[in-house]
Amino acid sequence: MSVTEIDRDPLLTLTRWHAEARERGAVEPDAMTLATVSDGRPSARIVLFKGLASGKIQFVTNYESRKGREIEQNPQVALVFFWVETMKQVRVEGRAERASADESDRYFASRPRESQLGAWASDQSRVVISRQELEARFAETERRFDGTRVERPPHWGLYSVLPEVVELWSSRPHRLHDRLRYQLHGTSWSVDRLFP
Ligand SMILES: Cc1cc2nc3c(=O)[nH]c(=O)nc-3n(C[C@H](O)[C@H](O)[C@H](O)COP(=O)(O)O)c2cc1C
Repeated sequence: MSVTEIDRDPLLTLTRWHAEARERGAVEPDAMTLATVSDGRPSARIVLFKGLASGKIQFVTNYESRKGREIEQNPQVALVFFWVETMKQVRVEGRAERASADESDRYFASRPRESQLGAWASDQSRVVISRQELEARFAETERRFDGTRVERPPHWGLYSVLPEVVELWSSRPHRLHDRLRYQLHGTSWSVDRLFP
């Protein structure tokens, strides 16, 4: 990443690096770690990148899950992408907000029927007595929607993360890795190179 290759907008680089990982045969190029913080205690898990919409990074989940409840308490989150195939990392800090109901409806409608039923059957992050209980819930949901369209559960949808700080990290020899930290000021980004 020489100075001449630096994008003015780090989301352009994110898009390019994501495509590059996919081209190199990455098994889960969409996987990203999502960290939330509630009462000063961080928690992290993997979610799937669902693309960029108006400069925001999207993922889908259950709004009543642990992460959903934590985001409602504190919308400040962090995301981390890492592609071992290209040895690149993207770190993001920003604010998460629910996408519009229309956007979530459109995305839900594009999902296979089984995933739609699964979204109704799972009280994500709550205790379930047994595997049988989970399967029984799924079967019950199948019966409930038999022969009809599955509408989106109100507690399930997209979140959009507005990036405020983005760090692009690219592996280089002798541990002299490239690190570019972008910070958003209104609608434009400033960029600093950091020691690795
Ligand atoms: C590869 C992979 C992809 C995942 N994708 C999602 C996802 O897109 N949305 C989601 O809610 N959970 C996804 N999960 C499950 C989460 O990591 C997590 O277990 C779940 O969302 C519950 O987290 P919470 O209790 O902190 O809310 C994925 C897990 C893995 C390993």
